[in-house]
Amino acid sequence: LPDPDAAALTDEDVADLLPRPGAESDKYRRGVVGIAAGSDRYTGAAVLSVGGAVRAGAGMVRFASAEEPVRHVRARWPEAVTTVLDPSLVLKSSLDEVGRVQAWVLGPGLGTGPDAHAVARAVLATDVPVIVDADGLSIVARDRALLRRAAPTLVTPHAGELSRLLDVPRERIEARRLEHTRRAAAELGVTVLLKGSTTVIAEEHRPARVNTTGTPWLATGGTGDVLSGIAGALLAGGLTCYDAASCAAHLHGLAARIAARGGAGGRSEAPIAALDVAQALPEAV
Ligand code: APR
Ligand code: MG
Repeated sequence: LPDPDAAALTDEDVADLLPRPGAESDKYRRGVVGIAAGSDRYTGAAVLSVGGAVRAGAGMVRFASAEEPVRHVRARWPEAVTTVLDPSLVLKSSLDEVGRVQAWVLGPGLGTGPDAHAVARAVLATDVPVIVDADGLSIVARDRALLRRAAPTLVTPHAGELSRLLDVPRERIEARRLEHTRRAAAELGVTVLLKGSTTVIAEEHRPARVNTTGTPWLATGGTGDVLSGIAGALLAGGLTCYDAASCAAHLHGLAARIAARGGAGGRSEAPIAALDVAQALPEAV
């Protein structure tokens, strides 16, 4: 990305920005992240997103979804507090049953049917920051008015998802990634994190940021879901969308490299699974 305005964050920048618990911290002050993800068909994306949030240091993770993903999340992450969403309550745009949430992650594995749409409407109607990823992006691409909200919003598309959001062919986005990330931020009024071999973050009136800490081994299904959970934890911890996106991309890439080398000291890289990235987050931090 030969653009003088697109700066990379250093390890030191990220270390300075990351929220760390003080002696008097409690779980609520550290940040409660709500995750609305998964469906009876896609349970893995939910497990991975919750894993990213738990391992990135959320004070508490509240997971709200259908019965089947709730069963899988409870089995894998006993730390998460779960709620089976009652579709009739969600239709009334009510998420009161979930309890206090400081930032929401919406979308991984959610599906795109009427129930998913109702969940998206309810989450986006809240007055807290929201990260929209994966199926959540397909829903808002069809109903852009959902993005007109008072609280901050971060969208985390890959090039295909950004193509649907902007209604621009994927090849044109791939050819000018920085330009289209900026354009999406301006047109949609949200913070945008464009995924790929290089990650680009843009927000109106701010310099774009790039991240290259990752490894090509990240190109495997599910790593994007882990990223959404990391960003959720950081957003609930008090970072802005712009900083949460930048720090999440940086840590996600570092964790992937650590996982691929079998630890921080390893010299050559080997295949990783998405869950390995979540497991390596504490070492990356
Ligand atoms: N080098 C470094 N990082 C990469 C590379 C690469 N060559 N390729 C991908 N990545 C990173 C991205 O930056 C991102 O963080 O891997 C992650 C992939 O995230 P997604 O594209 O969201 O993929 P994911 O959701 O995990 O899995 C694929 O996306 O299109 C849908 O339906 C598809 O379910 C599938 C899912
Ligand atoms: Mg994805």
